[in-house]
Amino acid sequence: MIESPDFRTTKMPLNHGAGRMPVLGFGTLIPDAAVTISATRAALEAGFRHFDCAERYRNESEVGEALQAGIAAGGIAREDIFVTTKLWNTNHRPERVEPAFEGSLKRLGLNYLDLYLIHTPFAFQPGDEQDPRDQNGNVIYDRGVTLADTWRAMEGLVDHGKCRAIGLSDITLDGLLPIYESARIKPAVVQVESHPYLPETELLEFCKKNDIVFLAFAPLGHGMRPGPLEDPAILAIAARVGKTPAQVLLAWAVQRGTALLTTPRTAERARENFDISALPDDAFDEINRIQTRQRLNDVVNTGSPGFIPRVKS
Ligand SMILES: NC(=O)c1ccc[n+]([C@@H]2O[C@H](COP(=O)([O-])OP(=O)(O)OC[C@H]3O[C@@H](n4cnc5c(N)ncnc54)[C@H](OP(=O)(O)O)[C@@H]3O)[C@@H](O)[C@H]2O)c1
Repeated sequence: MIESPDFRTTKMPLNHGAGRMPVLGFGTLIPDAAVTISATRAALEAGFRHFDCAERYRNESEVGEALQAGIAAGGIAREDIFVTTKLWNTNHRPERVEPAFEGSLKRLGLNYLDLYLIHTPFAFQPGDEQDPRDQNGNVIYDRGVTLADTWRAMEGLVDHGKCRAIGLSDITLDGLLPIYESARIKPAVVQVESHPYLPETELLEFCKKNDIVFLAFAPLGHGMRPGPLEDPAILAIAARVGKTPAQVLLAWAVQRGTALLTTPRTAERARENFDISALPDDAFDEINRIQTRQRLNDVVNTGSPGFIPRVKS
């Protein structure tokens, strides 16, 4: 459990290099270009200093534009923000890794990245089509490259100096172990779905023991309803402690020792999701006792992203 007087300024050190990740991260998985820009600006203004991007989200240029404008307007230095992006499945072949990294860097308008992640452990047919499918609609996987091959190319990016840390996303503990054991540069971060319905406790314990930052995506259950945001225990705790259900879920994530990514799309929600403070111990323990188990995004099983359709707020 992280003990900190102020979650808004808490940072977790990375096991490689000198980087430190702000625990409260803003995710840029936003399909609309104009909303990407306004939400990223609003997140910066609310105080977020950690931004999670991906080639796959097809909006790195918009995120970059918003970050540059926000930096210029707010007197924020590049060193004050932590920017991550991700290598897409079609770029796992070692010779494609550096060009993909450079493409992201250019779109973001940056000259270095704080963190580069392998988006999923699944290699897809290399090429410009992000979602290659056969005539039956099945994903075309690339059997000609292993995750270890891709990891070695990621290590090369750190050696070249434009990438300060590397990690993995959408990986299970079984998938992480062989990479962790064989890596010359150990993964600094693992990004996976996590909320009270999917606590991923075993993976979290492994990460804590080995100084890997566990970075939770969908900490609000992606806003799905029914979902953690309207769980009776969360609603009762929110009423009791005078916080919103979203603030309770985000505080729980930080308090159990994870960093998190949330995607508020409006300025009001950005301020709400950044204004996080520790829960009383009894509330924290009560959330740990929630029994519902539910994975909301199937990407970890297939490499194809997508929240399993449900009603959204
Ligand atoms: N590695 C991966 O494969 C992967 C997969 C998914 C996500 N991610 C990353 O993780 C980030 C976060 O994931 P996520 O978007 O699922 O996070 P999330 O914060 O759990 O869910 C976001 C949704 O929750 C709703 N919401 C936000 N703040 C709220 C509040 N205060 N009260 C009520 N509802 C609220 C919003 O719905 P409305 O849109 O209706 O406002 C928003 O779209 C993504 O942006 C992306 O960077 C990574």
